[in-house]
Amino acid sequence: MTLKGRSFLTLRDFTPEEITYLIDLAAELKEKKKQGIMHDSLVGKNIVLIFEKTSTRTRCSFEVAAHDLGMHVTYLDPASSQFGGKESVADTARVLGRMYDGIEYRGFAQETVEELAKYAGVPVWNGLTDEFHPTQMIADMLTIREKFGKLEGLKFVYMGDARFNMGNSLMLTCAKLGINFVACTNKRYFPKKDLVELAKGIAAETGATITLTEDIDEATTDADVIYTDVWVSMGEPAVVWGERIDDLLPYQVNEKAFEKAKDTAIFMHCLPAYHDRNTRVGEEVYKKFGLSELEVTNEVFEGPRSVVFDEAENRMHSIKAIMKATLSD
Ligand code: CP
Ligand code: NVA
Repeated sequence: MTLKGRSFLTLRDFTPEEITYLIDLAAELKEKKKQGIMHDSLVGKNIVLIFEKTSTRTRCSFEVAAHDLGMHVTYLDPASSQFGGKESVADTARVLGRMYDGIEYRGFAQETVEELAKYAGVPVWNGLTDEFHPTQMIADMLTIREKFGKLEGLKFVYMGDARFNMGNSLMLTCAKLGINFVACTNKRYFPKKDLVELAKGIAAETGATITLTEDIDEATTDADVIYTDVWVSMGEPAVVWGERIDDLLPYQVNEKAFEKAKDTAIFMHCLPAYHDRNTRVGEEVYKKFGLSELEVTNEVFEGPRSVVFDEAENRMHSIKAIMKATLSD
């Protein structure tokens, strides 16, 4: 299998076999790293990271993975380049494509990362847009496979804001890999109709099911994975917190949400998470609304079902796999 020269913009563009190949490669590179086996096969290459939004995991994963592969990295924060201000996306893409072997982009519109990829002439990796977060998917699927030894046939329940990058990406990924996906939330937070139709079409071929429901008991019965994400994403105004809390608090992931799940069920979250008051935003929300835990309770987050830090570690191994697969001969 070769993915050389391909951009990684959304999993819509990849076959189940290609996605599985990336998960396998991530597992292999993780093992090499644990055993101290060098894997700097991309010595001499250079990559650039463009971040229009903040990041801990994604940026650090790209940097560490690139160094492990022998590559050099340039980081551009939202204020330090001409991108978008004095220079168009297409012009920036053509400039950076002359200097770098690959470009990572985190920002707002999916169209921006698509435009970069159209003009760069080198692989572009989507480090998160409002619509999709594809590198997170390889890490999440690797994590699930490590816990259950398989992916196909599992029941995956997503609770909370299912109409943003994480809900969209997880629905598509589950469909591609034969995982039964349930979005369990207030119906105003279901993924968009056209994406649901696309996912259902893919699921029909892989044997997966796609379910959208407001019924927590129905959704969580026999669940293998319960997943959530923040209720207000990067780029959304703080003023929406009130309505999000009203709409989504019933879909908070707490111990009750796990009552009907399988004994072996795990909790996942892409992070960062609001599970206590130890963050500036968490504290502001507490002062305004009196809630110290939002999308997930501290009990679940810190409890034995939680695999969130394995998941975070796997970001690095999977981003390494994506870069290696798209840059190697
Ligand atoms: N999960 C994730 O993308 O985290 P960062 O925003 O820290 O990169
Ligand atoms: N939905 C979140 C994901 C963060 C990794 C956001 O876009 O802020």
